[in-house]
Amino acid sequence: MAADRPARPRKLSVIKTGALSIGATALPLLIACGDAPPPPAADLQAGARIYAQHCAACHGAKLEGQPEWRRRLPNGRMPAPPHDESGHTWHHLDEVLFAITKYGLVPPYAPPGYQSDMPAFGGELSDQEIRDALAYIASHWNSREVLDARAEMMRNAGRR
Ligand code: HEC
Repeated sequence: MAADRPARPRKLSVIKTGALSIGATALPLLIACGDAPPPPAADLQAGARIYAQHCAACHGAKLEGQPEWRRRLPNGRMPAPPHDESGHTWHHLDEVLFAITKYGLVPPYAPPGYQSDMPAFGGELSDQEIRDALAYIASHWNSREVLDARAEMMRNAGRR
């Protein structure tokens, strides 16, 4: 265990002299798990608020999407699809949904130069806010069929 090591890693002294006050017993643990901690659980209430404020105008207050969402607009762009089970949002892996929301429909999620009305929210929302909004969306996917399909998709991708 790190606590018994005679020569302590340099990192320790950095943490020790930092402003953070961490109990001495927590330090070896902190060093032992060098990886970043998992992100905090999503906050559905915050997600609902973020969705209403930043997504609903296009994707619909009830996640219903824009009318005739499968048909290209006169300007050649696609309307906003529903985020409920009638759309195709649930067909995508969590990390793809996150990336599309953060960066917009850019490669590798769309061909280079793809023109889309879907904004990139990276400058506007924090990663946690994006995760909250997406968790709120995902909370509308409740049918056995969709839940099973998503579980299988995540398994196939080695995510769960
Ligand atoms: C200004 C309108 C607009 C706003 C606001 C908007 N979107 Fe979109 N979004 C779109 C359009 C249009 C598309 C379809 C783009 C395309 O296919 O070219 C889309 C597509 C998406 C997709 C891909 C869906 C799929 O099935 O492939 C995701 C995910 C998404 N939006 C999430 C969000 C989230 C989350 C928010 C709020 C934080 C949001 N959008 C806000 C217009 C918008």
